[in-house]
Amino acid sequence: MARGIKAVGLEDSPGGSGREDAPGRVRVVPRAVRVGLLGLGTVGSGVLEVLERNRADIERKAGRGIDVARILVRDPSRARAVAVPAGLLTTDPRDILTDPEIAIVVEVMGGTGVALQSILGALRAGKHVVTANKDVMAEHGPEVWAAAAEGGADLFFEASVGGGIPIVRAVQSSLAANSVRRVAGILNGTTNYILTRMSRDGLSQEEALAEAQALGYAEADPSADIDGVDAARKLCILSSLAYSTMCRAGDVYRQGIAAISAQDIAHAARMGWTIKLLAISDMQSGRISMRVHPTFVPLGHPLAAVNDTFNAIYVQGDPVGEAMFYGRGAGALPTASAILGDLLEAVRGLDRGGARTSCPCLHQWPVDPVDALQTRFYVRLLVADRVGVLAKIASVFEHAEVSIMSVLQSPVSQRSHPDQAELIVVTHAAREDRMRDAIEGLRHLEVVAGVGALVRLAPEDL
Ligand SMILES: NC(=O)c1ccc[n+]([C@@H]2O[C@H](COP(=O)([O-])OP(=O)(O)OC[C@H]3O[C@@H](n4cnc5c(N)ncnc54)[C@H](OP(=O)(O)O)[C@@H]3O)[C@@H](O)[C@H]2O)c1
Repeated sequence: MARGIKAVGLEDSPGGSGREDAPGRVRVVPRAVRVGLLGLGTVGSGVLEVLERNRADIERKAGRGIDVARILVRDPSRARAVAVPAGLLTTDPRDILTDPEIAIVVEVMGGTGVALQSILGALRAGKHVVTANKDVMAEHGPEVWAAAAEGGADLFFEASVGGGIPIVRAVQSSLAANSVRRVAGILNGTTNYILTRMSRDGLSQEEALAEAQALGYAEADPSADIDGVDAARKLCILSSLAYSTMCRAGDVYRQGIAAISAQDIAHAARMGWTIKLLAISDMQSGRISMRVHPTFVPLGHPLAAVNDTFNAIYVQGDPVGEAMFYGRGAGALPTASAILGDLLEAVRGLDRGGARTSCPCLHQWPVDPVDALQTRFYVRLLVADRVGVLAKIASVFEHAEVSIMSVLQSPVSQRSHPDQAELIVVTHAAREDRMRDAIEGLRHLEVVAGVGALVRLAPEDL
């Protein structure tokens, strides 16, 4: 049932008000801060629900009342998970952006259209912004930070990566004294849910996706998750913070999970691995590399135990060594936790004067293409089941300068493929571009009927 939301916070009088704290002693309570909320969907409703539930404590910590003064939606007639006074809803962003009484804008509408323009407009007008929008932060970071500098406003985006996991501020502040060498982890809950259900419960990818959609973990169009776009954007945001440089999502090499089949999952388990969609960024000698791809992770590795919609992020740095962050990477309430933490920070900052957040752009580290990366690969091939095939396949790898570590022949259904066999090839560490050449060569080999998923093995030092 929809919960009722109070429209105003503790104190609402311009300039604050006096309260009698103890007989004869009057404490001045600062006026409530007015907040504009852009979006009242999954996350927006969660934000209002948690704000209402924990209002007394949140306002005590903030030192002020928090008044959600206006809420932008697309369709005011839509049923909402929380009940709000109808007068709060608007379909015109200007009602929030040009209201001089609104000091903080919380953007939870998503996309890079109205959301981006609203964030830019708010920042330029000197309004502090809290956003959950990874698309905006990963694709338009320089523009957004420039607008924040122009308006002297603060920008908070904890909810844009890892849902409720406090990873953004950890990398931005708590680990700021470190020289970060690697950020790696599971950044997308939808694909992790699908891979978990395939590995643990034997579902096909189609079945696992349909279930994720029914449970609200996956969008009707799941391509941003399945293709690794979402994880790449989050990796870009974390890499920018970790290396104090402005990364672009387009610089992240990306391979999604679409080609991963039940056979790959079964072979992985037989070899002591599980498959995870890992996002990995490395800093070496002033050069960055960033990639998102399905990865075989040894079953004993902590990341192998991160299941369902959970996310986990490793940070390796000097002097901290290794730090791991784990938690719920999405969902209304975990994401609201991050948004409200940011909102509290923004409110606390109001009395301190001047912007306290700034662009992670101290450096301009070059980003390497993945071509020169040395990785161990797994590839599954459907081949003709006859004499001499193995030698032909081996010669393609040799020609591409990729050294084979092991080849396994696995039975295939004799009824559907009477003259074919399945080969599982695992390579020693090889350059990405050489392996690409090998795959290209295999595709042209007449004895190869199909090239299945290419899966990388986790780096040995992960
Ligand atoms: N869902 C999660 O678990 C999660 C986790 C982390 C981060 N995020 C991020 O949080 C943001 C919001 O996600 P969500 O899941 O809450 O989305 P959602 O459920 O689709 O809600 C979007 C809200 O924004 C409003 N809106 C969208 N476009 C609008 C427009 N052009 N003009 C006016 N209002 C508009 C919608 O209005 P109507 O209701 O009237 O349609 C709706 O209330 C996204 O950036 C997402 O990536 C989400």
